[in-house]
Amino acid sequence: LGTPARHGAPVSLTVDGVAVTVPEGTSVMRASYLAGISVPKLCASDNMEAFGSCRLCVVEIEGRRGTPASCTTPVAEGMIVRTQSEKVRRIRRGVMELYISDHPLDCLTCAANGDCELQDAAGQVGLRDVRYTPGANHFDPKGIGARSQSEAKLQAGPGNAQYIPKDDSNPYFSYDPSKCIVCSRCVRACEEVQGTFALTIEGRGFDSRVKAGAGADDFLTSDCVSCGACVQACPTATLQEKSVAELGTPTRSVITTCAYCGVGCSFKAE
Ligand code: FES
Repeated sequence: LGTPARHGAPVSLTVDGVAVTVPEGTSVMRASYLAGISVPKLCASDNMEAFGSCRLCVVEIEGRRGTPASCTTPVAEGMIVRTQSEKVRRIRRGVMELYISDHPLDCLTCAANGDCELQDAAGQVGLRDVRYTPGANHFDPKGIGARSQSEAKLQAGPGNAQYIPKDDSNPYFSYDPSKCIVCSRCVRACEEVQGTFALTIEGRGFDSRVKAGAGADDFLTSDCVSCGACVQACPTATLQEKSVAELGTPTRSVITTCAYCGVGCSFKAE
């Protein structure tokens, strides 16, 4: 939803016919939420600045051209927002179809099954079929001597996926690039929540992926302090706590305060 605006002047708008008044500077996505309307999202979260990368939260605004992302669009007085028009539903299904075409279809055996925002969002937008051949995110360029993931896909041919290996170097969590949707939530959590700047995105298109630190070989040799902010921010099973992967989803949790440094971050212990 993006971080909430608290002190702006009141702004009134309607979302799907529901009148709502929010502080100036509030995002259309948050205003929709306050009006009781849930807009599908993947890259937005409650405790980080809106980023606008996943394009799943598009809406129509009367009098404006195009379909802006609701998470990065601020409200305006008298705005009339439509979050469920046929046009935006079709766009969202198309976006989700592309995400799923580049994602392993192993939900039933995945550690995040039932607790995966990608899975939830696919259901929310009503995705039924994927018309595209699998993307290149699963392919390991080094495995077959290719220069990039897209070249590896061409060389491997259909039905011959070679998964990019997991980074299991960190003792507390693993990183599986084949499940990454490059939403940048982990990178932003590392910067905005922890202030560590240990993660970055490298490459473009099918070749883009999260990388732990410039010049580092893996998470263990990077500047990562194992705070877990990235794991908590990840909407899929890309960054997975090892206890969850090995022992399954916990049945109870407690909120506690990290004793690692003086910041005093709260986190959920399970
Ligand atoms: Fe708005 Fe991703 S949630 S672009």
